[in-house]
Amino acid sequence: MNKNYLILFGFLVVLKFSEAQSPKLLNIKADQPIADIAPTMWGVFFEDINFGADGGIYAEMIKNRSFEFAKPLMGWKVEQLPFFEGAVTVLNRAGTNLANPRFLRIALNKEKQPKISFINEGFRGMGIKDKLPYEFSFLSRTPSGNATMHIELVDSKGQTIGSAVTEINNSKNEWEKQTVRLIATATEAKGSCRIWLEGNAVVDLDMLSLFPTDTWKNRPGGMRADMIQLLADMKPGFVRFPGGCIVEGFDLNNRYQWKKTIGAIEDRQLIMNRWNIEFANRAAPDYFQTFGLGFFEYFQLSEDIGAEPLPILNSGMACQFNSAEFVLLDQLDPYVQDALDLIEFANGAVSTVWGKKRAEMGHPAPFNLKYLGIGNENWGPQYIERLAKFQEAIKKIYPNINLVTSSGTDPSGARYDYLNKSLRAMNVDIIDEHFYRNREWFLQNAKRYDTFPRTGPKVMAGEYASHAESPITGSKKNNWQSALSEAAFMTGLERNADVVQLASYAPLFSNIDAWQWAPDLIWVDNLRIYGSPDYYVQKLYSLNKGNKVVSIKMNNEVVAGQDSLYASSVIDTNTRELIIKLVNVSNKIQQTILQIDGVKKLGVSIIVTTLNSNTGTDVNSFDQPQMIAPKNSTMDIKGTKINYEIGPNSFVVLRIKMF
Ligand code: AHR
Repeated sequence: MNKNYLILFGFLVVLKFSEAQSPKLLNIKADQPIADIAPTMWGVFFEDINFGADGGIYAEMIKNRSFEFAKPLMGWKVEQLPFFEGAVTVLNRAGTNLANPRFLRIALNKEKQPKISFINEGFRGMGIKDKLPYEFSFLSRTPSGNATMHIELVDSKGQTIGSAVTEINNSKNEWEKQTVRLIATATEAKGSCRIWLEGNAVVDLDMLSLFPTDTWKNRPGGMRADMIQLLADMKPGFVRFPGGCIVEGFDLNNRYQWKKTIGAIEDRQLIMNRWNIEFANRAAPDYFQTFGLGFFEYFQLSEDIGAEPLPILNSGMACQFNSAEFVLLDQLDPYVQDALDLIEFANGAVSTVWGKKRAEMGHPAPFNLKYLGIGNENWGPQYIERLAKFQEAIKKIYPNINLVTSSGTDPSGARYDYLNKSLRAMNVDIIDEHFYRNREWFLQNAKRYDTFPRTGPKVMAGEYASHAESPITGSKKNNWQSALSEAAFMTGLERNADVVQLASYAPLFSNIDAWQWAPDLIWVDNLRIYGSPDYYVQKLYSLNKGNKVVSIKMNNEVVAGQDSLYASSVIDTNTRELIIKLVNVSNKIQQTILQIDGVKKLGVSIIVTTLNSNTGTDVNSFDQPQMIAPKNSTMDIKGTKINYEIGPNSFVVLRIKMF
C-alpha cells in the first residue's frame, strides 16, 4: 500500500471512529403538547384463527361436544367390546332443534352390549393439571332403563389420572343437565377424556363438556386464565372482535352472526371455521366455531380488562378472496338491523328487546359500546354502497357510535386509494388499515402518518405485523428483527396520535399444534404460554402510553431512521412524567444527548426499560419464554440534559419525573 493510501485509510478510520463517538442531540419540548393520545391507542385484535377461541382462550376441553361437526363423531373414538350393531347412533332432531340437532343414542344391553366407551381427543390433546378440579357436564335423558356413567381423565399412555362416576336416570322427555367434578392426579399435556357407560338402558347424550376450574375469574365454562392474563397485563385500550376474515366467512352462510352466539350455550349453532380450509398446507378439518365464546363473553372480557369493546360486523359481503358472495343491496336490511340490534344489546335499557337479553345473561348494566366496525377486509364500490346504508341507518339513531370502516387488504395501491378517497368523501369516523409487510417496509414507513390529513376520518392501524424472514403470510415465527422493526414503526403511530387513534397487532393467539397463520403475538400449547418479542413491544407501548405527544427532534426533524434511530416522546399529565421511546436498529452502540426543554427540573433518577437481543433471529419459545423480555433499571441524572447510550438492536423506554 503506498503512503497516500495509508493516509487516506487512517483518515477514514478516524472519521469512522469520531462518527461512532459523536453523540446525537435529540431535542424534546416537554411543555408543548402537539397531540392528545386517545385512551384506545394500543389495543388487541382477537380472531378465532390458529385455534384462538375453540382450542384457545375458550377453555372447553372436549372437541365436538355436541356432535355437530361435519362428521358427527370427529374427535371421538368409540370403543364397543363386544361390538354390537346399532348400539351407538347419531340421531338428528332437526325438526325440533335447528341450532343443535344431533345427539348420541346409546343402547346398553346387559347381555349383548354391557359397556360402551367414548374417548375424546381434545384440541390436539388436553392439558391436564395435577390436583386441579375439572367440571364435566352433559345433557341426557334415558328413554328406557338406568345407566352408570364413568368419566376419566387419561394421560398419553392411557393411564387414568382422575375419575368420577354418576348415575343417569331421566325418563322424562326433557333433557337434563348434570355436572360432575373430578380431580386430576397428575399433569399431562396430551391427555384425553374417556367416558364409559354401563347398564341396561337407552341413553341419549348431548353437550358433553369438560372445563378446568381455574378459568379466568373462575367463571364456570369460562376462558383460559393464563391467556387472558397476558392480555390484561398489556392494559389494552380496546378489544377488537371477532376478527378478521371470520367476520366475512368463506361465503355468506359461513359469516359470523352475533345473534347466534348469545344465550344458552346449547342453543348456539356452530359453523365451520373458515380457517379450516383456507390453507391446504395448514389444513384443519376439525376447526369449527362452537360460539361457546360469543358476543356477550367478548363484551364481558373487554370490560374485565378495562378495554373498549370493538365488535366488527359483516357488511353483506363474504370474503372477496374466497367466494366474494354479496347480498343484494335491496336485501341488506337484515344485516343493518343486526348492527342496530347489537348496539341495543350492548347499550340499551333492560326494557328494550336486546337490552333485556343482555340482562338475562347476567349483565343489566350497559357495556357502553362506542365503536363498531362494518366489514373486515372488504373493498370495491360494492363495499362503499353497502357501507353507506349502514352509516345512514346507524348514525340516524346512534350518532355517537364511531364507525370503523375498511380500507381493504393493503396500505397502498389502487384498491386502497379508491377506498381511502371514497371513505374520506363519506366522512366516515375511522378508517381501518392493514399491513402485513416485511421489516424494511416497517422501517421505511415510520413517517407514514406524518403527512396524513389532520381533519376528517381518524385511522385505526387495525392489523399489522412485520414478517421479518419472509414477506409471505403464514410461514415464519416472530423474531427480534420483526419486533424491533415494529417498535421503530410504532414511534410514527405515537407521534401521529392525533390521526391514529387505535392500533393492534394481528393475529393475537396461536396454538403451536394447530396454527394456520404466523407470525402471531402469543403462542400457547395445552399447558404453556409465551409472549413473542412483538408482544413485549406492544406491551411496552401500551403501558407507557401517556396522554399527550410532545416533540422529539434531531436536527429539527422527526427521528425516523436517521442513523438507524427512531424516537417518540409523550407526557403523562396525571403522573407528571416524560416518557421517551428510543429505537436503535443498527448493530452499534449509539450515544445520544436528550435535551429536555420546557421543564423547570427533572427527577434525579429515571426508569429505563430495555428490550433487546444481540441476534435478529432470536425468538422466545416455551423453553425460553423470556429470552427477549423487558428489563428495568434506573439511571441517575443531573439537570435537563441526559447523556444516554442506546445499545445495538434495542428498544428503550425512559420514564422521567417532571417538576
Ligand atoms: O390476521 C389474519 C387475517 O389477516 C385476518 O383475518 C384478515 O383480516 C387479514 O387478512
